[in-house]
Amino acid sequence: MSIYFDNGSTSFPKAPGVAEAVGGLIASGAFNINRGGYAGAYEVAGAVFETRELLCRMFGFLGECKNAVFTPSVTYALNMILKGWLRPGDHVVTTSMEHNAVMRPLVQLAGTGVHFDAAQADERGVLDPEKIEALIRPETRAVVMTAASNVCGTLMPLREVGEICARRGVRFIVDSAQAAGLFPLSMTELHIDALTFTGHKSLLGPQGIGGMILRTDLAEEIEPLVSGGTGSMSDSEEVPPFLPDRFEPGTLNLPGIIGLHTALLFLQETGIDTLRGHDLRLTARFLDGVRELPHTRVVGLPGVEGRAPIVSLDFGTLDNAEVAYTLDSRYGVMTRCGLHCAPRAHKSLGTFPQGTVRFAFGYGNTESEVDQCLDALKEITRQ
Ligand code: ALA
Repeated sequence: MSIYFDNGSTSFPKAPGVAEAVGGLIASGAFNINRGGYAGAYEVAGAVFETRELLCRMFGFLGECKNAVFTPSVTYALNMILKGWLRPGDHVVTTSMEHNAVMRPLVQLAGTGVHFDAAQADERGVLDPEKIEALIRPETRAVVMTAASNVCGTLMPLREVGEICARRGVRFIVDSAQAAGLFPLSMTELHIDALTFTGHKSLLGPQGIGGMILRTDLAEEIEPLVSGGTGSMSDSEEVPPFLPDRFEPGTLNLPGIIGLHTALLFLQETGIDTLRGHDLRLTARFLDGVRELPHTRVVGLPGVEGRAPIVSLDFGTLDNAEVAYTLDSRYGVMTRCGLHCAPRAHKSLGTFPQGTVRFAFGYGNTESEVDQCLDALKEITRQ
């Protein structure tokens, strides 16, 4: 038996056709774009352009699709924005539920004179948007926050925070890693200035491809952290001022983009509401089952309302790492245990330093897999 419940880490399986698209590009002509002046290269360039369009459509961005910039991951995108934009004396508001993709750059920047405050979520991971507003001061340039906790799945109040940012004239930067491809995230409706994404979670694409969609006025203020050849303005040693080239030096991860292209077409055809409905049905079934288990705490919200398809469990008197090991070695259930690169979130949830065992459901999972996992947990927790 082999059951994959680590979709919060990376999704598996990927969308149908992704493997073939990645392999197909390499096998049949991995031509470089912006460099090669031949039909095969133009074809790849066309697919890359279309991927930018699909991303802009998915994330409700109404500007030009050149504002969708590819990076190796959401972490790179967040670093590029925060480190390329913030200056000593600037202040940023974040939340206590962030992943280290946000926290580590902010802590590094704190060493250079950029200040930050983290609005405290409650022990269910729920954040009162007023706590964000209370932390905004004259030097505050942005609110940067996750769309959903990677630890317990609690959804963050993006709509309310977006309105606060718009009203207070503060930029809104969102880490969509655990929500993109499952929840509607419209940059326009949520007043988001920069939306960062990763291709390999619920967007169902391959690893190594992520990016950001930037409003033009913000993009103009960000200094590129990395520079190099872009295939454009080759007569100049200056960084091109225009998007996406300004932030895309070097050869792009074209197999990754082509894989993501296939995945985005699948999401578009299937509909993110359908995918979310499936994943949350499994989450609800799992939550119903774990309530019966002895000494087991559901970390975060009690039900499926207000959460992404992620459930973290703390097994109390049992060692969480041992439970995860037994689930894998004896029952073939793959989870992620520990602190999930989010120590501050675990502190908010009261699960630091022991961490949790995290179950993250995806489109390839079935009810029967949930039931098998619950049976395994019944046996383990009976001991
Ligand atoms: N950030 C990913 C996770 O939560 C890797 O597992």
